[in-house]
Amino acid sequence: MPVLESDRLFLRGFLPSDAAAVQQLAGAFEIADTTTNIPHPYEDGMAESWIGHHPTAYQQGLLVPFAIIRRHDSALMGAISLMSIEQGHQAEIGYWIGKPFWGQGVCSEATQLIVRFAFSSLNLARLYARHFSRNPASGRVLANAGFLHEGTSRDHVEKWGILEDSENYGLLRGQWEAHNP
Ligand SMILES: CC(C)(COP(=O)(O)OP(=O)(O)OC[C@H]1O[C@@H](n2cnc3c(N)ncnc32)[C@H](O)[C@@H]1OP(=O)(O)O)[C@@H](O)C(=O)NCCC(=O)NCCS
Repeated sequence: MPVLESDRLFLRGFLPSDAAAVQQLAGAFEIADTTTNIPHPYEDGMAESWIGHHPTAYQQGLLVPFAIIRRHDSALMGAISLMSIEQGHQAEIGYWIGKPFWGQGVCSEATQLIVRFAFSSLNLARLYARHFSRNPASGRVLANAGFLHEGTSRDHVEKWGILEDSENYGLLRGQWEAHNP
């Protein structure tokens, strides 16, 4: 896994020793509530299992899962990944930030890093992302990184027995390069 760096953050692959922090942060109700696949409660062993599948998925070229690390004290703040990678074409971006770190621009900064990596190093042509319509903060993160809103998929995801509307965003490499020469 490469390491990506910005002023406040670095992104690196997850380590087995990150499991306790992942369980604590991802275990908050608010993280599961607006994500598709994060379980709640987040039980013992789930973080170890999640981190444990990363090397195989990475080697298969399907997933690039980064831990978001605060530079000054190496605290783990969240996760950001390229998922469903189609080599030479596109990937989906997904992320969560631990509640204590919300509202500090962390996810926006991490998203800009992973976008640069996806276009410059992986040479993907398109990135896309989705968020529940009731989660506008995620839409702001994507807009900050230059994504365009491409539409709404009504009742697209079933979450805890409720059908959720989903907002769809996309970013093309040419569009990104025009703003990041
Ligand atoms: C969504 C999430 C990733 C944002 O992380 P963050 O580090 O707090 O995000 P940032 O600080 O970079 O940016 C948040 C933006 O949302 C805005 N925002 C926050 N709450 C908002 C709300 N209720 N309505 C609209 N915008 C809101 C902020 O003003 C900011 O926008 P700005 O940069 O234009 O000022 C974080 O809240 C989270 O992990 N939520 C739970 C998991 C999740 O929803 N993951 C995404 C699934 S698609």
